[in-house]
Amino acid sequence: MSVTAKWKLDATLALLILVWFAGGRALFPGPDRDVFLVRASATLAFLLLSTVLSLGPLARLWRPATRLIYHRRHLGVTTWALGALHAGLVLHYAAGWDPRGLLDAAQGERFLGIPYPVLGAAALVILTAMALTSWDHFLHAWGPASWKRLHMAVYAAYGLLAIHVLTRLASEEGPIPWALAGGFFAVVGTPAALHIAAGVKEAAADHAAPPGPDGLVPLGCFADLAEGEARAVCASGERIAIVRLEGRLHAVSNVCPHQNGPLGEGRVRDGYLECPWHGYQFDPRTGQGPPGFSDFVSTYPLVTVGETTYLARPSPPLRIQCPS
Ligand code: FES
Repeated sequence: MSVTAKWKLDATLALLILVWFAGGRALFPGPDRDVFLVRASATLAFLLLSTVLSLGPLARLWRPATRLIYHRRHLGVTTWALGALHAGLVLHYAAGWDPRGLLDAAQGERFLGIPYPVLGAAALVILTAMALTSWDHFLHAWGPASWKRLHMAVYAAYGLLAIHVLTRLASEEGPIPWALAGGFFAVVGTPAALHIAAGVKEAAADHAAPPGPDGLVPLGCFADLAEGEARAVCASGERIAIVRLEGRLHAVSNVCPHQNGPLGEGRVRDGYLECPWHGYQFDPRTGQGPPGFSDFVSTYPLVTVGETTYLARPSPPLRIQCPS
């Protein structure tokens, strides 16, 4: 994705936040301003986090959504900023900056004995750690695998936030909380359903044929793979990306060395296969990045016989397993 496109997405996000607060206030002038700000910041933060968690599986189900993956980090940091704003507003308006006052006020709103503000605070701690370490400096210092392990904690934060919101809603009375609860389950159910659907789709695609007596591993027919397109396939229990460049098929590791992004969901730009997550590029013929960059991915030799393309010899050995 170009820098211009990224700026456009940032501008769209800024506009959304402006419309959310300004338009929301125009639509709901009833509650006083403090209550409105607390609720508006909480709702938008939760919606954005649900969107962040939905983008990965959505991109696996619907290829155009990969363009939005590129923006996921900015969405995540914006979510954290809204969450921090919400926490600050609650602490200021409801407790005069005294956390003990907030806990006293939430005596009847507990989950397994834990006051709901504590759940929200724990989620915010996780999101803060993620936001602070979202820069590439930490990625390079820790390595992609360790960095990614920390950032998988977003699911724990999401679970804590979901319980935080639900516990708060459960203490309300009347029909509106029920309507809100319905909306809550629809929002939470979306990333869950998308993850399940993407998992089912990938499991179906991960059935690799065994090598033949000649050692060739059949990968399938790629006659429909357009120029500049890529597709992930499973070979010998591991994933590789098949790319068409200048009419010829090439195979590289499906795993981007930056943050393990799926190169098979990228496409060729300026002669390089571009990772859909943050735009790292690799020459499909050599696996090398553009001049001046040292990142590279493994390449694999292919043989096409008739309509079928085979992996000729997995060298270097494939190392990344397909998820079961
Ligand atoms: S995972 Fe970041 S560029 Fe590939």
